[in-house]
Amino acid sequence: IYRAAIFDLDGVIADTARLHLAAWQQLAEELKLPWPEDTEERLKGLERMASLEVILGEQGRKFSKKEKHSLASRKNKRYQALIRSLSPRDLLPGARELMDWLNKSEIPIALASASKNAPAVLHALGISNYFSFIADPEQSAPKPSADIFLAAAHGLQVEPDLCVAFEDACAGIAAIKAAEGMTAIGVGCKSALGSADYIVSSLEEFAPKDFFLSEIKAAAIR
Ligand code: G6P
Ligand code: MG
Repeated sequence: IYRAAIFDLDGVIADTARLHLAAWQQLAEELKLPWPEDTEERLKGLERMASLEVILGEQGRKFSKKEKHSLASRKNKRYQALIRSLSPRDLLPGARELMDWLNKSEIPIALASASKNAPAVLHALGISNYFSFIADPEQSAPKPSADIFLAAAHGLQVEPDLCVAFEDACAGIAAIKAAEGMTAIGVGCKSALGSADYIVSSLEEFAPKDFFLSEIKAAAIR
């Protein structure tokens, strides 16, 4: 029986992966860079500068560090303009219902997102209140390091092996699997998330009662 839930944000709770993608695509077009077919999958879960390297590919060598930072900040400004239009309608299916169930059952929730924009996204979606702890990506090594998931468990004061974590990215699943016995739920397509402990096509499909004590059972034990 698990005691806490840890969520990735983009592509798990919020329909924002498409906004990150749109902002990167615009940059790639401006720089006349190719857009290989697997780019979308490869970008998932990667922090900003690592994502830029994927976009630049071979051409990465041609840019100085300073230029790269300015390209990444160009993308980020566009992304921030896009997230201004987010509203609760941009929650992915099942996200609110699951978080409601967890809150009612007194299962604490933490966020483990690589995005430095995560607090703004939570605010725009109106879901900041669900979270007991938001791990700071600036203080953690990027996924696939387990760092940010361990920080999230630590923030909730729950042992990693008693936490269930949700991810849509291959690098994210690897991070969870490296996090001292944490259980990984892959959200999305089986082919990309093969190493997860369980895979659901959306949070709607996840049955919390199979993993956590329900409010009624928990009250009976207490
Ligand atoms: C998440 C997304 C990535 C994004 C990263 C950094 O992991 O899946 O696509 O690049 O966060 O986001 P940021 O908002 O800090 O640029
Ligand atoms: Mg994600």
